[in-house]
Amino acid sequence: MTSRCDYHIDQLMSNPQRKPVDLCSANGFCIWHGPCKLQGQPRALRPWDFAMHHHVHTPSQAQPGTVADLAATRPHSVAVLQRYGIDFCCGGGRPLDQACAVAAVSVAQLLAEVAEREAFGKDERRWDQAPLPELVAYIVDHHHQPLADELTRLQAMAARVLKVHGPKDPERLAELYETVLALETDLIPHLRKEEDVLFPLIIAGRPLDAGEAVQALRLEHDGVATLLTRARELTDHYVPPDHACMTWRALFNGLSELEADLKRHIHLENNILFPRALMA
Ligand SMILES: [Fe+2]
Ligand SMILES: [Fe+2]
Repeated sequence: MTSRCDYHIDQLMSNPQRKPVDLCSANGFCIWHGPCKLQGQPRALRPWDFAMHHHVHTPSQAQPGTVADLAATRPHSVAVLQRYGIDFCCGGGRPLDQACAVAAVSVAQLLAEVAEREAFGKDERRWDQAPLPELVAYIVDHHHQPLADELTRLQAMAARVLKVHGPKDPERLAELYETVLALETDLIPHLRKEEDVLFPLIIAGRPLDAGEAVQALRLEHDGVATLLTRARELTDHYVPPDHACMTWRALFNGLSELEADLKRHIHLENNILFPRALMA
């Protein structure tokens, strides 16, 4: 597939004078970058313009069909999807255009923001192309190991907030404490299963043996996603009330960060590690 930007860059590179008006007179819209910043602007290229257009998608890089496709192949998109509240982990199988419509953002706008991050943001690892043992090590080191400590910390804070401030919002604070407990109860054995059963099979290159374990773990991810959704509802999207104390605020902030981290973690497994392992 040749995108509009491939055309743009071909024109740019083949034109020794690099005239932007020539570059962009053919069309003004790119499916990846949105409206062309240079269209009809007969002036010298700015570094920013060039960087946007120099970020060329190779012919093998097709337009993503689903949110998960986009998140897996263009890692900078994860931050953009999170900002628009688009689920890219357990609900990542939705077509991108449908997810964008629900989030009230055009596909072109979203992809333009992704391209901007790719052009100017820090490098992001392409986990869809990295060796599987490296990806497994990354998941364990960056997501599994800090998770148990963080769940213990959040559980202690949730218990304290319930004990000290329970009468101010008894039903929601009690259910929030139960939800944090349930997250810990579900996640700790889940991590053990991954590290003790699935990950060794993946590293050993035994995809057929891994099939059943992957299905079970995907279901457990769905359960975690349901608990995170409930925590978000119970906390008014992690916005503490005006009268909240420091611990209450720290609890909401910690839960918000836990949600963001778990979504990236589950995305790496559901959308990259598991499919790649089963195809190996
Ligand atoms: Fe995991
Ligand atoms: Fe997992």
